[in-house]
Amino acid sequence: MSDFDDYYYAVEKDIYSPNFFPYFNMPYDVPFVPTPEVVVRRMLQLANVKRGEVVYDLGCGDGRIVIMAAREFGAQSACIEIRKDLYEQTLRRVKDLGLEDRVKVIYGNFFEESLSDADVVTMYLLTSVNERIKPKLERELRPGVRVVSHDFEVPGWKPLIVEDLYEEWRSHKIYLYKIPGLEIPIPTEELEEKVKNVSLDDVHMNVLELIDGNRSIEEISNKTQLTMRAVREIVNDLIKRGLVKEIRVIK
Ligand SMILES: C[S@@+](CC[C@H](N)C(=O)[O-])C[C@H]1O[C@@H](n2cnc3c(N)ncnc32)[C@H](O)[C@@H]1O
Repeated sequence: MSDFDDYYYAVEKDIYSPNFFPYFNMPYDVPFVPTPEVVVRRMLQLANVKRGEVVYDLGCGDGRIVIMAAREFGAQSACIEIRKDLYEQTLRRVKDLGLEDRVKVIYGNFFEESLSDADVVTMYLLTSVNERIKPKLERELRPGVRVVSHDFEVPGWKPLIVEDLYEEWRSHKIYLYKIPGLEIPIPTEELEEKVKNVSLDDVHMNVLELIDGNRSIEEISNKTQLTMRAVREIVNDLIKRGLVKEIRVIK
């Protein structure tokens, strides 16, 4: 059997799940099998990755997802890889392409690294591993963050989209999820008085005018065409200036 056959046998039987562990002594949670480039592109399109957003790939492999996210979508990306050889290979590719300031390669275990900065998370793991990483994603990811998984669902989550793509002699499934909840900026009292004494540029002013204690960061992002990340940064600036009290997170 080739590595490839081994992998699909394992996938079918889900023998990497802890139940099978005594029979199959796997040092890592998931073996390296790359996502075909066409599927990578579609995953990033479905997640609607925008310029300046932060994309995390759990398990870099050869780095193809984070590299495409940076080069074709203008993202700031990061990936976490547990295998030293693959970490070094990705790091080398990133350096050769001059992407060091846009792609961060982390040598480590994705169960142990913080994911709280992500706008988009991509995964090509296994259903059993998705099940194990799910509580961490629910804890750390902000409302509105998109999670895209190649071939394996996240048990218990309702996908927004499931798409089938035929590539490299087989069908690939892409699952798109969105972390539920809202982030609502709350204006300070006497905002009208306070705003008279500060000078704000047009972008800050546009965002401030939309803050009413009901609208979420996602709604403000849709209205202004700014990314949620950019709106959040502006709101945090407005908090520092005393014009916004807080961002209330409802999960
Ligand atoms: C199926 S491959 C996917 C690679 C890449 N994301 C892609 O889609 O082309 C899974 C990768 O996750 C890595 N991996 C497995 N368990 C890991 C863990 N706990 N922390 C970090 N990386 C891990 C493997 O070494 C492998 O490179």
